[in-house]
Amino acid sequence: MKPYREISILAAQIRKYNRQYYTGNVSDITDTEYDALMNRLLYLERENPKLRSDDSPTARVGSAPLSGFSTVIHDPPMLSLSNAFSKDDFLSFNSRILNLLKLDWVKYSVEPKLDGVSLSLVYENSVLVRAGTRGDGIRGEDVTDNARTIRSIPLRLNTARFINVEIRGEVFFTVKDFKKMNQKREETGELPFANSRNATSGSLRQLDSTVTAGRPLSFMAYATGLYPHGMETQEDLFKKLHLWGFMLNRQNRICDTPEQVIAAYDNLVEARADLPMEIDGMVIKLNSFSQRTEVGSLSRAPRWATAWKFHAEEMATVLIGIEVQVGRTGRLTPVARLEPVKVGGVVVTNATLHNQDEVIRKDVRAGDIVLVRRAGDVIPEVVTSLPPEDGIRGEVFQMPDECPVCKGPVVQPEGEVNLYCINPSCEARIRRSLEHWAGRKALDIDGLGKKLCEQLVDVGMVRSIADIYNLKYHELIALERMGELKATKLFAALEKSRKTPLSRFLTGLGIPGVGEVASRDMAAEFKNLQALGTATEEELTAVKGIGPITASSIRSFFTNSVTSAVVDQLVETGFSPIEESTGKGTALAGEIIVFTGTLAMPRQKAKQLALAAGANVTSAITGKTTILVAGGNAGSKLKKAEKQGVKVISEQEFLESAKG
Ligand code: IVH
Repeated sequence: MKPYREISILAAQIRKYNRQYYTGNVSDITDTEYDALMNRLLYLERENPKLRSDDSPTARVGSAPLSGFSTVIHDPPMLSLSNAFSKDDFLSFNSRILNLLKLDWVKYSVEPKLDGVSLSLVYENSVLVRAGTRGDGIRGEDVTDNARTIRSIPLRLNTARFINVEIRGEVFFTVKDFKKMNQKREETGELPFANSRNATSGSLRQLDSTVTAGRPLSFMAYATGLYPHGMETQEDLFKKLHLWGFMLNRQNRICDTPEQVIAAYDNLVEARADLPMEIDGMVIKLNSFSQRTEVGSLSRAPRWATAWKFHAEEMATVLIGIEVQVGRTGRLTPVARLEPVKVGGVVVTNATLHNQDEVIRKDVRAGDIVLVRRAGDVIPEVVTSLPPEDGIRGEVFQMPDECPVCKGPVVQPEGEVNLYCINPSCEARIRRSLEHWAGRKALDIDGLGKKLCEQLVDVGMVRSIADIYNLKYHELIALERMGELKATKLFAALEKSRKTPLSRFLTGLGIPGVGEVASRDMAAEFKNLQALGTATEEELTAVKGIGPITASSIRSFFTNSVTSAVVDQLVETGFSPIEESTGKGTALAGEIIVFTGTLAMPRQKAKQLALAAGANVTSAITGKTTILVAGGNAGSKLKKAEKQGVKVISEQEFLESAKG
């Protein structure tokens, strides 16, 4: 098949699957199949650069950095919205509209007000040619390269016609994506983002679009620049946007009466905590475009729409006292104990105060009435205190100068706001470490829950995680609430945990900055504990996703006398973790492979697959070579292999064997 034809078939298929995915339809293919199509397209475009078009689905990987953004002009301007804060505000808005139109009822479109960053997308002949931020409403920044990396922005409208239209909508992170991204950042030693909206704005305004491509942004459409030909209402527009391939909000509604608008608002308030994205109100718009034109706009905002804002989810309660908790890493965190209060549908009894600086900044003291906030999934926090009018207040809070649990010394590392207990045998730290070790992401030890961890540390039977493997049966059954059955089960679970793969073992150690993802990456690379424990920082940073901070943290963990002693003890009790996917059992285990010719997948990926399948990869054919994987246009190596009688297989055969 001619590359031109293959490229256009692949691009059309990938577009179809993107659309299925983002418009909520079921997908016909698996992720692996999708990746295979994408890789083939990338390969064909690399080989035939002239055939690569701007709206190719591969444009999503980002392109070369810019030296600055150019300016886009918004015509018509991107307006903002007037605000309503109550039912009465909405009812006056409604009366104003009815007066202006001299009507006694109108239809409204009501939509969640997405708390992200607005974006304008210009399509010419159905192809995305420009994307601009709102800026001051008239002039924004040209972020076209970045917008192309956002998977829910169609690079070409799904229509056979040549359409010129400007789509406006919101870029944001879903709550899930934001959380996942932050988890990953913490694991690789990067600072997590504090605020989803700021992170969106920052991610969208990157000069290097490959950075944006690595951030899981989403886009939802809700308006156009000018009203498109042939459409009369917002309802029509939404239908069209859906067909063109945009993601729409499932909570959008058309209302026939003011009562329906109010009910829609109440529903949205209820649904808010469970929505996939953060919203800060409900936008109410006249459904009919001709009515909008009749009502008109003021300079800053249209008269035909308003944003009915939510009250922030804050509740007042009494601060009973401030306690200091000690975490697994020894970090001291002040925690507010509160009179139970319902915030956003959940009863809250404690809230974090982060650190001493925060407590002082907010000036919260025991006995104060405080405002508590719960935003989405975030841990509840104390926003501010409302000091009593008579001025009689409790003591100013002071962080302790010793660990509240072990009474050992605390230190404040340079440049940090946090204090740390540095005693590795501190009971609080051991309790937390043990809980973490037994947790689901780590060794997943059935029967070793929070309560038992606490009990074991409290009675002094466990002084480090390795100690649980030296427990004696008769000691264990002597514990309160522990019967023979429970003890037997626990021993079985402990025995089973000895066979844990290296990746989970590493997660369990709780090395600062090393979570599940980093553990898996390292385990895949080093395969056994010995190799990892002796790896240099250079070797560690060579692993995908491991930065210098994490590398240094890993190195310190394995060289520090206290932490390395825990690892040694574990080894003494019989641990010898290896990574399960060492490829033993695949058809390629032990083979020495050479790749030649052009492959559909990147060489690096092929190499990784081979290594993961237990094979070795070299670049030249020698007497030791056992397999040659030949891609398209294979030349001298193929000849040499045939001459030497080395087994030759295709890329497809290689893939199948690697799965083994
Ligand atoms: S309509 C003139 N619809 O709210 C119409 N805006 O304060 C303006 N926003 O800049 C846009 N969700 O970023 C519209 N469903 C929605 C929206 C929405 C969020 C944002 C948008 C705009 C701001 C106005």
